[in-house]
Order: sequence, then C-alpha cells, then structure tokens
Amino acid sequence: MDTPYTFDLNNPDFIPDRYDNHIRRTLTAMRGQYLDTAAFEAMLAADDQLLYEVYEFHRPHEPGELLHGISIVHPGKVGDEYFMTKGHFHTVLDTSEVYYCLKGEGYMVMETPEGDWAAAELRPGKALYVLPRWAHRSVNTGAGDLVTLFVYPGNAGHDYGTIEQQGFRKLVVERDGRPEIVDNPRWGSKQ
Ligand code: F6R
Ligand code: ZN
Repeated sequence: MDTPYTFDLNNPDFIPDRYDNHIRRTLTAMRGQYLDTAAFEAMLAADDQLLYEVYEFHRPHEPGELLHGISIVHPGKVGDEYFMTKGHFHTVLDTSEVYYCLKGEGYMVMETPEGDWAAAELRPGKALYVLPRWAHRSVNTGAGDLVTLFVYPGNAGHDYGTIEQQGFRKLVVERDGRPEIVDNPRWGSKQ
C-alpha cells in the first residue's frame, strides 16, 4: 500500500493500532553494556527479562523517507543502572532524529565522536532534537514504561558496534533513590 496513512496511539500504553514490525530486546541483547556484570549475569540466569520494545513501520531506506515508530523502555535496573536501549550512532553520521515523549520519565544520553556529551530529560510532552553526529540511548528512570515517538531519515542506518565496543561516556544510575549521571569508568575499553 502506498498511500498516506495514519496510526492511532490513543490507548494508555501508546501501542500503535497498526505497525509492520515489533522488536523485543531482552537482557541477552545487552551483554557487556551494564557496568555491574555480576548483577547482569545473576538476572539473566533467573530470567531473560524483556527490557524494551520498538514498533516500526516499513518504509524504504531512502533519504526522502522518514522512518518512524514507538519505543517503549520498561522500568527496572541492572545493579544501580536503569534499564536502557542499546544506543547507537547513525551509520550516516550526519543524520538526526526527533523524539517526542508520550509517557514516563527518563533521559536521552547522547555523545559525539569528538567527545561532547549531553543528557536530555524526557517527560510526557517533551520533544527532543538529536543533532547529526550524536549517538543516543534512552534510559528509563521511572516506575512505569518510558514511551517515545521517534522520526529519523530513511538513509540513516544504525551503527551499534561502536557503542558495543566503547560504551557511552556517561551512565545513569540510582543514588539515594534518585537518578544521577556519572562517568562510565569503563568508557573506551573493550566492554
Ligand atoms: C532509531 C532510534 C530509535 C531506537 C529505539 C531502540 O534511529 O534511535 O528508534 O532504535 O529507541 O533503541 P536501539 O536501536 O538503540 O536498540
Ligand atoms: Zn537513532
């Protein structure tokens, strides 16, 4: 079908009423990404828990297209570190992305290959523009789901390998019951 379409998010969980692809990432997909490897292995041994889900629409991977969908990060922690997405650079580094937070609370943690970093708070009603060159990872610091709508260019592609290798410069951890952004002591080393 190649006609303009709408989709409906008018339900409490913001699950679209139509989509082409449903990605489910469990703990297994995040091996090496959490700082507390002992906590990670203990959780995985007990249950390969579902961490986040993405609902996507199939559109051609061409510059004129805008890929879009819904990302849902569930609440929880591995050790002190909140549940989060893998995070990535876009393969075409000079491509950007827009996020709109529909539900929950958290941060978008971002960084550039040049060494800059930023963390943007996500709350319902907040929109975020992730500039070209900035790797991005959603982190859920709340008690419920963190739900965002995302839109990015069709030709962006995903480079997961760089983050798998070096991690993000900053981690979001719970300290005295509140989220705090701290240095990643393992940044740059092979995870
Ligand atoms: C697309 C994008 C989001 C993420 C989604 C899951 O470029 O940034 O749609 O893909 O939030 O995160 P990742 O892809 O890092 O597993
Ligand atoms: Zn992206």
